[in-house]
Amino acid sequence: MKHALIAALLGTSTLFASAPAFAQAKPEDVIKYRQGLYQVVGWQNRTMGSMVKGQAPFDAAEFSRAAEIVSLMAAVAPGAFAPGSDKGAPTRAKPEIWSDAAGFKKAMDTFQAESAKLAQIAKGAKDVDAVRSQYGALVKSCGACHDNFRTK
Ligand code: HEC
Repeated sequence: MKHALIAALLGTSTLFASAPAFAQAKPEDVIKYRQGLYQVVGWQNRTMGSMVKGQAPFDAAEFSRAAEIVSLMAAVAPGAFAPGSDKGAPTRAKPEIWSDAAGFKKAMDTFQAESAKLAQIAKGAKDVDAVRSQYGALVKSCGACHDNFRTK
């Protein structure tokens, strides 16, 4: 019964129209939001990466803030993949995001867990060695999702 209802909803645009957070959002706006969100993630990631690579001196407060922002972005990122936002503007999001929803959720869950863990560790970090390994785990979660769910 429940499944039949879901199937019926999926067959129409009702599902997208009735998703509360996106009731008014056009697909191209969702795509813009998504790309802006990942630009923030990328920018903050570079800040942390340059410290981990020794290209910039370790600044605990700045690193911690960057980790916190990435973690916050990860927390809201699922909302940037609203059904229907697979097209409507140029996007590198692969159709598998929606066709393999379980696989995508796993990649997203890992991203959220690793970024939250890094933000936690970064709070008390005295030097770059304290964050190095968890930063590596976060970057691995970026690559895992990009490999499967983002076009080159
Ligand atoms: C759960 C999946 C997922 C994770 C995890 C993820 N990304 Fe992405 N990322 C994407 C997808 C999908 C796009 C393409 C968005 C589009 O074009 O609509 C993207 C796009 C980007 C972009 C390009 C944004 C633009 O200008 O359009 C950057 C930069 C980026 N990601 C960096 C990162 C970094 C750094 C991390 C980890 C800290 C990360 N991403 C983690 C899925 C992910």
